[in-house]
Amino acid sequence: MTGKATVSSDIDTLAALLRAGEIVAFPTETVYGLGADATNSDAVLKIYETKGRPRFNPLIVHVADLTMAEQLVELTPLARKLAQFWPGPLTLVLRRKVEAGLSDLVTAGLDTVGIRIPDHPLALALIRAAGRPLAAPSANRSGKLSPTTAAQVIKGFEGNVPVLDGGPAQAGVESTIIAVDGETVTQLRAGALPREEIEAALGRAIAIAAEDAAIAAPGMMLSHYAPNAALRLNVTQPGPDEAWLGFGAAPGAAANLSPTGDLREAARNLFAMLHQLDGVASRIAVAPVPRHGLGEAINDRLKRAAAPRG
Ligand code: TXA
Ligand code: MG
Repeated sequence: MTGKATVSSDIDTLAALLRAGEIVAFPTETVYGLGADATNSDAVLKIYETKGRPRFNPLIVHVADLTMAEQLVELTPLARKLAQFWPGPLTLVLRRKVEAGLSDLVTAGLDTVGIRIPDHPLALALIRAAGRPLAAPSANRSGKLSPTTAAQVIKGFEGNVPVLDGGPAQAGVESTIIAVDGETVTQLRAGALPREEIEAALGRAIAIAAEDAAIAAPGMMLSHYAPNAALRLNVTQPGPDEAWLGFGAAPGAAANLSPTGDLREAARNLFAMLHQLDGVASRIAVAPVPRHGLGEAINDRLKRAAAPRG
């Protein structure tokens, strides 16, 4: 398959590839995922190799329904309560059922699994047709921007991975990750489901993992989601050599996350506009984005994208 763009809409063929241990990129409501049969270590290994991902960084498992989830993880009453957001952009880190047959590479040796039911009809159809839980990180090379279109996936992997095209991702940022340990609920990653909505459903505030909680969510390295261009944040007066990424009123901006100041629209546009400006500018200045609601995830991704590369 080297070098040829491989967009497909043939779910049965792609499902057969997955069952045969191949990797397939597919759309979700958050970002595109790079999927493999989560019970097949050889297949999962291909994800790590293709992404250039460190092996200590575990993968999210995608299932089609609660029955499938129950085979893999302990669904405590509290976990079930949080599962009201499924299908949707919420990953729950739950205790793994050892007899479930998940590859140890998926969990990177942890006794927990990050799991979710994606809210995208093609993702659900692909999981059902494959008949397997699908391990899927975002479909980008490790440390790079997450893809929100099939074209970005093709470009990132140089056409070497088949992609199921589901159009532009609705949410545009990754799922919110919540660890449930007994009665303790901790947000490991801000994401497309605002923390406020989860807190409202539970009727209480939830903890936020410390900035350096590298063990709790190994993927949360500081430099992540990095464009090639240098990024400057909270800029209201861009320099002459900077492409300005606006939010709200931003006269002269090269692109605008949301001219009306809508955080949902801004989240949807975030990675696509960073991709776009990255192609044409070597310095990007980003306007301030409020921190409430989806702004928490947007600011988190921007901070990582701007962090010094290690
Ligand atoms: O929206 C999303 O979540 C997308 C789509 C494709 O579903 N996926 C995604 O995967 O963002 P990825 O691999 O880019 O991020 C997965 C994150 C990593 O930070 C990883 O460390 C964390 O989930 N994670 C996975 N399993 C975990 C576990 N058992 N304990 C703690 N963190 C875990
Ligand atoms: Mg990622």
